Amino acid sequence: MRSDPKADLRHIAIIMDGNGRWARKRGLTRVKGHSAAEKSIHDAVEVCGELGVEYLTLYAFSTENWTRPKAEVNFIMKLLSRFIKGNIDDLDKKNVRLRTSGRLNDLPEGPRKDLELAMERTSGNTGLNLILALSYGGRAELKDAFVQIAHGITAGDIAPSEITEELISAHMYNSDVPDPDVVIRTSGEQRLSNFLLWESAYSEFVFTPVLWPDFHAEQLHNALDDYRSRKRRFGGLE
Ligand code: FPP
Repeated sequence: MRSDPKADLRHIAIIMDGNGRWARKRGLTRVKGHSAAEKSIHDAVEVCGELGVEYLTLYAFSTENWTRPKAEVNFIMKLLSRFIKGNIDDLDKKNVRLRTSGRLNDLPEGPRKDLELAMERTSGNTGLNLILALSYGGRAELKDAFVQIAHGITAGDIAPSEITEELISAHMYNSDVPDPDVVIRTSGEQRLSNFLLWESAYSEFVFTPVLWPDFHAEQLHNALDDYRSRKRRFGGLE
């Protein structure tokens, strides 16, 4: 029996890495790896729903990913639209609230509109918050927060002495979302790659060699077992 995760597992964040290598191993083009990623996303949503996890953030496209070949970027954007249109009924039925994090205005109009419609449609849902990080960069998020705070200072609404960690957190893209309890990265890479830099200060990190298209319910449960075996002290002694 797995222990009740609700008390200590509100937010799971995942860096979905290894799609390209998964495809290459099979002699397929890189984009086939991105297509294969969809099943793993389904599984992650399913497991989070079963466990009563409140937030699942998926790093789907970083601010740096725009530098990839145009054909691959276009493919991922089309895949995003296809994913939303193909899954919105099911997500809505499962009481999932779809949200995003990142500079949504960078996205082409088609997927942006699809996302906006899906977010609007599911905005009243009270189950899992599925947060797609799109055109997301941790440094960009911090920079955007600093600009907002600077405007507040210039306008006389914020005094420098009022700048606290809480105030900075309140200027992050989704300030109502609790910091991730665990950040999982697939594919064997062990770095954060500009993901949730501020929010992951006290997160546990689980790195697994499994490539994202092979990361299904069982692999997610294994990663969560690893997380539960850790003792979180948040910098304190006990
Ligand atoms: C990392 O694998 C994956 C990405 C940069 C893109 C992630 C995109 C998806 C999972 C699909 C689109 C999203 C949705 C929500 C449908 P990689 O290409 O860096 O793999 P590699 O490191 O093996 O080359």
